[in-house]
Amino acid sequence: MADARVNALMEKIVSLCKRRGFIYQSSEIYGGIGGFWDYGPLGAELKRNVKDLWWRTLVHEREDVAGLEATIIMAPQIWKASGHVDTFSDPMVDCKTCQGRFRADQLDDIPCPQRPSKMVSQCEGEKTEARPFNLMFETNVGPLKDAASVAYLRPETAQAIFVQFKNVLETSRQRVPFGIAQIGKAFRNEVTPRNFTFRSREFEQMELEFFIRPDEVIEAICGRVATVAEGSWQGEPQPDWGWEVWHKYWVEQRLRFYESIGLPRATLKEYWQAPEELAHYARATVDILFTFPFSKRDARGELIGEELEGIAARSDFDLSQHQRFSGKAMTVFDEELKAAWAKLEPGRQTELARRYAEARQQYLTRMAATPEEAEQAAAQARADAEALAKGSYVPHVIEPSAGVDRLILALITHAYAEDEAPDDKGKLEKRVVMRFHPRIAPVKVAVFPLLKNRPELVAKAREVRDLLRPLMTVFYDDAGAIGRRYRRQDEAGTPFGITIDFDTLGEKGPELKDTVTLRDRDSMKQERIPIHELPARLLSQVR
Ligand code: GLY
Repeated sequence: MADARVNALMEKIVSLCKRRGFIYQSSEIYGGIGGFWDYGPLGAELKRNVKDLWWRTLVHEREDVAGLEATIIMAPQIWKASGHVDTFSDPMVDCKTCQGRFRADQLDDIPCPQRPSKMVSQCEGEKTEARPFNLMFETNVGPLKDAASVAYLRPETAQAIFVQFKNVLETSRQRVPFGIAQIGKAFRNEVTPRNFTFRSREFEQMELEFFIRPDEVIEAICGRVATVAEGSWQGEPQPDWGWEVWHKYWVEQRLRFYESIGLPRATLKEYWQAPEELAHYARATVDILFTFPFSKRDARGELIGEELEGIAARSDFDLSQHQRFSGKAMTVFDEELKAAWAKLEPGRQTELARRYAEARQQYLTRMAATPEEAEQAAAQARADAEALAKGSYVPHVIEPSAGVDRLILALITHAYAEDEAPDDKGKLEKRVVMRFHPRIAPVKVAVFPLLKNRPELVAKAREVRDLLRPLMTVFYDDAGAIGRRYRRQDEAGTPFGITIDFDTLGEKGPELKDTVTLRDRDSMKQERIPIHELPARLLSQVR
């Protein structure tokens, strides 16, 4: 159980989120609905900034990633092929006394999402045996509610990327290695949603599927496959990278992204899943963990972090599954491979083809349901190896998959701070300040006329607001003492405050005319700066 001090902190954060308009309970006036949350004005800006930065970093600033925006409801066969219909479940138990339903692996006290310091006590009653509970939300498409019309709200955005792989490849003029990125809603009917927005039933994902050549193809083309120990993963992508180097590269890229939005490396842990923890499709998975106030401690007293993102090496499992289920080829033709293969020594060709056939047979045998299918697997694997020799293969994939809402919660808990600031009479008072990185802050700059009953000050302040508004989010505030206005913006996490005073009007002399004070949220230091320098100065920090 988390200690009281930590719960009190979480309670303050939840309360600030509501009070300042970051996060509200969904359907609050009707008593709420478990596992669903709404973002208020500040939360919506924060979330948009984070998603825009992810998109900009991955899609706009790279040449090898293209974007996609697919539907939430898709053909239900997709979820059969992906394994979600058969295996996407949590173990659930019923309590025979209170009729409550719980996740069998979470039968400890559950913190109340509204008031984390209050534990919802579970009854001590006798529990049923655990049974699998599929997490997908079902719906029906069309006017008939029967088995044939059943469809699902997507439990991940990834599958749309796999099923549109060929279309994107053909229309974007990309070639393997390349990636497809998507941001969008996903839905999981969690047995026990918990920890505020961390585990919600409706949430958003930012997923990249990065398609790469199989290692045997790299060997045929480059004569070798680079190793992680050589260290090239820290630099630009190279043609001799196999899946292990690409995987390590993407872990590093994702850590750099978190740093760029204000989560220092020291706040993140890389957790390399043990072989027995890996999902059925994964060769290796790294979880990026962040410690929340509600994180638990392990047996040695070390805080266990919570997963913000998983970076999985998924081999060719997903595209192969969709190839089998849809009957449509998910292979690519690689001219470079064809040319390189023709130049290989026969012994080398045999060796690479044998290894490739073995890997394909392993996958095909695993998927075989009947003895006949198992027999066909070896023949299919040999055919796949023959296709490889002609330049054709199913690409492998590395998947960095991040949860937007849990990242927003991490950014909010990391930003929350209490310190002291002088009030209007110079007396120190407690202040709550959200130290968001300027790139993600919901409002970038607040503009204040010193007094609201002086038309010249107000006119100048509006002029400054209008100068900055096309460039960034600006909040104009003329209500109350200046210290209180600063305090309000500190709580909203606004990194800069601009005050228009009598010096700005030139009342103290021409040298200060058209200058303003620029206040830094964290240091609370103020400096005088000409109005015309504001755009460049602020943009360099908020972009
Ligand atoms: N696509 C991986 C996940 O949703 O966790």
